Amino acid sequence: MSSVTVRVPAKVNVQLSVGPLREDGYHDLVNVFHAVSIFDEVVANESESITVSVVGEWADQVPVDDGNLAVQAARALAKHAGRAYGADLVIRKAIPVAGGMAGGSADAAGALVACNELWGLGLPFEDLLEIAGDLGSDVPFALLGGTAVGTGRGEQLSELPTGGVFHWAFAVADGGLSTPRVYAECDALRAAAGAEAPWPQADEALLAALRTGDAPALGARLANDLQPAALALRPELAGILAAGRDAGALGGLVSGSGPTCAFLAADEEHARRLADALSESPSCRTALTAHGPVSGPRPA
Ligand code: C5P
Repeated sequence: MSSVTVRVPAKVNVQLSVGPLREDGYHDLVNVFHAVSIFDEVVANESESITVSVVGEWADQVPVDDGNLAVQAARALAKHAGRAYGADLVIRKAIPVAGGMAGGSADAAGALVACNELWGLGLPFEDLLEIAGDLGSDVPFALLGGTAVGTGRGEQLSELPTGGVFHWAFAVADGGLSTPRVYAECDALRAAAGAEAPWPQADEALLAALRTGDAPALGARLANDLQPAALALRPELAGILAAGRDAGALGGLVSGSGPTCAFLAADEEHARRLADALSESPSCRTALTAHGPVSGPRPA
């Protein structure tokens, strides 16, 4: 095989509960991930060495050196297989960069699946999941797709079957937010308020809404502990959240560490109307629609 192409979805966190800071610098989480139909494409072409190039709307914001998580993923896989394999990776970006939608993690997951196929390794999914966990907290879910509850630092996953399809509108803000910075701000806000970080708990009403496909109930339970921190760092996001509420979203929140904001709609048409309204908001660079859950990356 000389070339393998995979599509990898973005994610939104429908519940992100952040516990205390651990000694290893991470936080224990309950992180309910939901994969949505905004896809990066990762192509792995036969090559002597591991290289990457990036095309698409957000391409100029993505590193093409060892800082690229897809390159790190290919290297980690080659190391696991015990050989100096090469691959020329081409990433077509549609997922906003540094937007809280796990675009970098998606590219890493795509590189693992594509290189496993290109190199004919045939490694089982469990091996890929283990390598994914070492690459980043969100990479295992990017490999899995669907809807899942993440615990630990978000890498320990339990799949959650969902009833039906959820429709979303996303407001992509200008510029990205650094994930470590948002977590640090969350800790600082809690310290300033003298608040102990609670042990994170899954919201049973939210999980039930996902299981039964109840969009109004899910909309009412959307929650992200990182949201106050993202708003402190980017106050203009409050205007975007208000615009989504005013336009009749069933619920809205900052996605992950932001700055993308996600809004739940009643159906596809409602999602389009929400996106039209959000695109009028001054701090919204672009508005997208998507549905979830969708599958993780599989070779085409
Ligand atoms: O795992 P990943 O490399 O994606 O994490 C990026 C950063 O996000 C970490 O260095 C840490 O600052 C923060 N983080 C955290 N707790 C988590 C996941 C990420 O504090 N559970």
